[in-house]
Amino acid sequence: MRDDIDYTFEYAERLSGPVPEYLREVERQTFLKTMAPQMLSGQLQGRLLALLSKLSAPKNILELGTFTGYSALCLAEGLPPGGRLHTIEGNPETAFWARKHFASSPYAKNIQLYVGQAKALLPDIPGPFDLIFLDGDKRGYPEYFDLLIDQLRPGGLLLADNVLWDGRINKPADQDPDLIALRKYNDLLADDSRVETVVLPIRDGLSVARRV
Ligand SMILES: C[S@@+](CC[C@H](N)C(=O)[O-])C[C@H]1O[C@@H](n2cnc3c(N)ncnc32)[C@H](O)[C@@H]1O
Repeated sequence: MRDDIDYTFEYAERLSGPVPEYLREVERQTFLKTMAPQMLSGQLQGRLLALLSKLSAPKNILELGTFTGYSALCLAEGLPPGGRLHTIEGNPETAFWARKHFASSPYAKNIQLYVGQAKALLPDIPGPFDLIFLDGDKRGYPEYFDLLIDQLRPGGLLLADNVLWDGRINKPADQDPDLIALRKYNDLLADDSRVETVVLPIRDGLSVARRV
C-alpha cells in the first residue's frame, strides 16, 4: 500500500531537476532492457549526485557499479573540461548498455568504462580521485574504504549508496551478510577522523563523506 512517504518522495522528485533528456532516455531504456531497473539511481538521487559533483568540481572521479550508466552520467555533469570519470561494471550485459548510453551523451570523451571485478581492476585505475561513488558489491564496502581512502584527495567526496539497506540497517537481529558489511562500513566512517560524514535517508540511504 502506498503511504505518505511515497507521496512525499514523488513530490520531492518532481521538484528536483531539470533532468537532461539523454538521462530520461537512459532511464526509459533501462526499464525496457534490463531485469532489475530499480538499481538505477533515479531522478532524486541522480540530481543530488549531479549537484554534489558540480559543487566539488572533481577532475578525476571513480565509480564502482556502473549498471546502465545513469549515476555516472549524473556525476559527469560536474567534471571540468578534460576531467575524467572511471567507472567499473562487473556484468558485461549491463556494461554493453552503459557504453551505448555514454556514447550518446555529452560526456563520451570523459568517461572510461572498465568491465570486470572491481577489486581486480582498481590497481589499474589512475588516482588520486576527487570524488568516489561506491554503488556495487556492498559486501566489499569496508575493504574499498581501506583501499581507497588514501587515494581520495583532501576535500574530496566519498559517496556510498544503499547504506540504510531498505530500512533494515538498524535492526541488529537481521544478520544478512550485506547488512553486516554495510554496518561495518558506516561504523568505519563514523569512527575515522580522516573523514566527516553525513548519512542521508534518501532512497536506500546515501552516505556523503568528505576527506578532511
Ligand atoms: C546498484 S547497481 C549500480 C547502479 C548505478 N550506479 C546507477 O545508479 O545507475 C550495482 C552494479 O554493480 C555491479 N557490481 C556488483 N559487484 C561488482 C563488482 N565486484 N565489481 C564490479 N561491478 C560490480 C552490478 O553488476 C550492478 O550493475
